[in-house]
This record gives sequence, structure tokens and C-alpha cells, in this order.
Amino acid sequence: MNRKTFISRSAMFAAFSAIGNVAIASTNKKHKGKHNVNSSKGGPVVISTWVHGIPANDAAMKVLLSGGSLVDAVEQGVMVVESDKNNTSVGLGGFPDREGIVTLDASIMDQNGNAGSVAFVQGIVHPISIARAVMEKTPHVMLVGYGAELFAKSLGMEQLPNVLTDQTSKAWQEWLKEKKYKPIINIENHDTIGLLAMDANGFVAGCCTTSGLSWKMHGRVGDSPVIGAGLFVDSEVGGATCTGLGETVLRTLASHLAVEKMRDGATPQEACELAINRIVKKHSNYKDFQVGILAINKEGEHGAYGLQKGFNYALHQHGANKLFDATSFLK
Ligand code: GLY
Repeated sequence: MNRKTFISRSAMFAAFSAIGNVAIASTNKKHKGKHNVNSSKGGPVVISTWVHGIPANDAAMKVLLSGGSLVDAVEQGVMVVESDKNNTSVGLGGFPDREGIVTLDASIMDQNGNAGSVAFVQGIVHPISIARAVMEKTPHVMLVGYGAELFAKSLGMEQLPNVLTDQTSKAWQEWLKEKKYKPIINIENHDTIGLLAMDANGFVAGCCTTSGLSWKMHGRVGDSPVIGAGLFVDSEVGGATCTGLGETVLRTLASHLAVEKMRDGATPQEACELAINRIVKKHSNYKDFQVGILAINKEGEHGAYGLQKGFNYALHQHGANKLFDATSFLK
């Protein structure tokens, strides 16, 4: 497969993974905020991608408000979503790759700029906890595949066999019938949880965890576990995290780009827009895929921007945890 074909197939995979998320629309309505405010100041604040960010934010904020550490907060936040077997884009309930195998990617950064990540992990319920252990217990930043699984087991984590849920098994069987993709413009390409938190002192940490694209090539890894791509945090400035078609985020290191733009004076919203504009500029097929980005700065201000309409995010700040629609490049 040449590079161009791969890009266009990847866009189709991303589009295809939107299928099966009908239930999300009603949950979206339930949690909907009245307006998209992104100039709120002050911490603590937790922000995360998509409607599954609502329970993740709750868990993270609970840790922060009870005096827990920032890194505990972000880890425990996304663990809620990793545990949800009905979530088809994060954790072991995620859609499998072409071979019917679920492979998981995750990354974490703490308030001191430490980072850990894992990629291509099978059978572990909480890849984010392996990523955290890589950060805290090894001199490394990233472990992949069998090595990451061995490390997880050495820490007492159980490795489960690859068993699809009823939902993902059915969807994979359906996909196998044709093994091909239809280019659908993403309206709501729900994938991945990226979560950023700032404590009352202005320190920032973040996480990103995903099962990646549905029906991906076995071995494919996206942006989520790559520091600077799916996640970047620098407590001197703030943090950013991405969701959507990972290949485009990898090519532009969009989270790092957004944080560096904030370092140079951009607001979080401006930084998010600059990052999406860069992705648009570098991808002539930008109408075929979705990317969403979130950013926060040390003042507790946030930004959110999608390439396509349909990207939403959960914001927990000033005692309320609500879902908001991000503005987007394509209207
Ligand atoms: N953004 C998730 C992925 O592309 O794997």
C-alpha cells in the first residue's frame, strides 16, 4: 500500500469508527451545557474529550478536591472510561483491528514534565496504569507490545485473553463481510479520551488513552501514546491533548504545537485553532477526517477546536461538569 492510499484508507477507518455510537447522541443531550464558555479562570479544572469525559472528569475532580495528587487525578479519571466495556474507542471494549485483536495505546505526563507511555498493548484493562508505571518506575518513556505486557504483569496486572464484547464482535463480523470502507465525512467521530487537569496551584498534568482506529492494520499505533502528538504538558505553560485521526496528529505533533503556541502568547483557543489549521494546511484530504484538540493554560483558561463539526468536550470547573460543543474549522 503506498503512502497516499494509506492516508485515504486511514481516513476511511476513522470515518468508519463513528458507526455504532448512536447512543452517544442522547447522552450528549443529557449533559449539554448552555453555551461554550472558554474564558473561565481558576483551578481546579478538569477537561476531557467527548461525552465519556463527563464521568472521567467527575472521578478526576473527586481526587483533586479530596487532596489527592494531580497524577492520581488524571489516571483515575481516564480509568473510568478504560473500564467501560460499552465504550468502543477506549479500553478492552474497543473495536478490534483487522485481525479481531484489540490493541491499546496510552500516555501520561505529570506536573514536572515526566512522561510515560505504552503502545500496542493487549489484554490489560488499564494501559494508562502501565504508562504511569513506565514514567515512575523505569528510566524510560515508552514501552510497546510484549515488553509493555511483561512489565505490566511484573507489577501484578492481570493479562486477559483477547475476547471481544458482544457489541464489538458483531461489528467486526459485519466488517469482515466486506472488508472495505466507505468514505463518510465525520460528523461525530467519537474516539479516544484525552484528559487535562490543573490543580488550584496552577500545575498541570494529562492523560490520553485509546483502542485506536477500528479495523486498523495489526501493529498500527496512533498519536495517543506519542508524547507531543496525542498529549503534551508543560506546567510552565499548560497542556494540550488530541483526538481523531492519529496519523495527522503525528505528522504535526499537534499537542506540542499548541503548548508552544501558548508559550509564545497564544490563548488556549488560539493555540487549538493554530494546531488544527496546521493539520488542514498539511493534509489536502482534510475534509475526510476528524481531529479535535483541547488545551488549558495555567490561568485555568481553556480552548477547544475541531476540524469538523461534532467535536465536543467535558469541562469540570467552578463546581459544574458540563458538555460543550467545540467550534470547528469546517462549519
Ligand atoms: N486518536 C487515536 C488514534 O488515532 O489512534
